[in-house]
Amino acid sequence: MVKILGVAGSPRERGNSSLLLDEALRGAKDAGAKTSKIILCNRDIYPCEGCGDCDKTGECTIDDGMDKIYNLTTSANGIILAAPIYFNSLNAQTKAFIDRHQCIWTRKVLLEEEVTDPATRHARRGLFLATAGANDPHAFDGALKVMNMFFAVLDIKYYERLLFFRIDRKGAIKKHPTALNDAYAAGEHLMVEIARSLGELAE
Ligand SMILES: Cc1cc2nc3c(=O)[nH]c(=O)nc-3n(C[C@H](O)[C@H](O)[C@H](O)COP(=O)(O)O)c2cc1C
Repeated sequence: MVKILGVAGSPRERGNSSLLLDEALRGAKDAGAKTSKIILCNRDIYPCEGCGDCDKTGECTIDDGMDKIYNLTTSANGIILAAPIYFNSLNAQTKAFIDRHQCIWTRKVLLEEEVTDPATRHARRGLFLATAGANDPHAFDGALKVMNMFFAVLDIKYYERLLFFRIDRKGAIKKHPTALNDAYAAGEHLMVEIARSLGELAE
């Protein structure tokens, strides 16, 4: 069964990006995926300390539960990450979560280990959902550079993005004419693409 992991990056519960995430997960689930969700603001994820311990072992020595999350981000067939734009980048909780994948980068690049299953790696896919308050389509440029690297480290070569600007107040996304439907459809599409790539759907 296709496993899709949602990551809610915003500190605002039921905020704009989280509402998009829930719709995308609903779309993926309705299309047949097994979905799960991590809400970053409900966890105390410490920022990377740059200690270099993982250079030798591939293991992070910060004891805050991220070890269980690595199992999820490396084993899910698809990852949907949703976050707000803060200061032209990802918000701090999301960036800390991403930075803490440094040990996965280390395993892969320095230690030359497999970080995902070689048998299903080709089917890994991502979806990035983001909202920004300003009237500026370039508000996402910095975040997209981060997401390119994050998904690449996790062996996700292809990812879709849904980016909504001029969405500021909590819940403003609900007034957008298509956003929630777009997110639902993107979640459905993600599931179908992965299943097709795994050979679980007829062409
Ligand atoms: C600290 C902070 C920094 C922000 N920086 C930006 C920014 O650089 N560009 C922008 O377009 N919006 C910015 N915003 C607005 C948020 O991106 C916007 O409100 C977004 O829809 C929030 O999504 P959420 O409800 O999922 O948290 C910022 C908001 C906060 C609180």
